[in-house]
Amino acid sequence: MHVAIFIGSPRYNGNTSTMASILSTSLIEKGAECRSFHLYKHKIEPCLDCRLCKLDDMTCAQLDDMTVLYENIEWADVIIFGTPIYWFGPSAQTKLLIDRFRPYFANKKLYGKRAALLLPAGSGMGDCDVTIEQFQRIFKALGMIYIDTVAIQAYDENDVRDDEQHHDQLRDLVDKIMTEEMA
Ligand SMILES: Cc1cc2nc3c(=O)[nH]c(=O)nc-3n(C[C@H](O)[C@H](O)[C@H](O)COP(=O)(O)O)c2cc1C
Repeated sequence: MHVAIFIGSPRYNGNTSTMASILSTSLIEKGAECRSFHLYKHKIEPCLDCRLCKLDDMTCAQLDDMTVLYENIEWADVIIFGTPIYWFGPSAQTKLLIDRFRPYFANKKLYGKRAALLLPAGSGMGDCDVTIEQFQRIFKALGMIYIDTVAIQAYDENDVRDDEQHHDQLRDLVDKIMTEEMA
């Protein structure tokens, strides 16, 4: 199984990164192939609504780091979106990424792929509802299958790393990813 993990936090050692790393370590142990991407290390231009992705080969006309990210999105069977909650929503770099999913609405290349969310938030689950609903609606629009969310109350950089309970929640998600794959 191919898993692409997008990390949408500017804190490279923060909670989103830790969640992504625990998840990928456990997935690899179970035989999955994982590729992780720090979105803040990539130059992602905003979607310009040029609508060229509705024509011809239905790809984005912009040439930036999305070229590599598109390859990996299409390589993946499972896509993990990790983002800190910023003002009840995803981080700006994560929003840039998902806006650039516009070609997939037209070309349907993500149909049947599965997806899950990793959401650290200072106030915890209570501030994640809008983001979970937003992603669920995006997945539905793109024909993707929503697996689950791990939402964790975490504020300081080491909050996830230091709490074994959080590691258990992530291992539960790994089981769901692997079990549904085998079903
Ligand atoms: C601009 C900004 C907005 C934030 N808004 C929220 C919020 O609406 N709700 C919340 O629970 N936490 C909020 N937080 C806290 C982060 O979600 C929290 O610190 C998280 O653990 C950061 O994840 P990271 O370590 O991966 O960067 C905000 C943080 C920043 C920088």
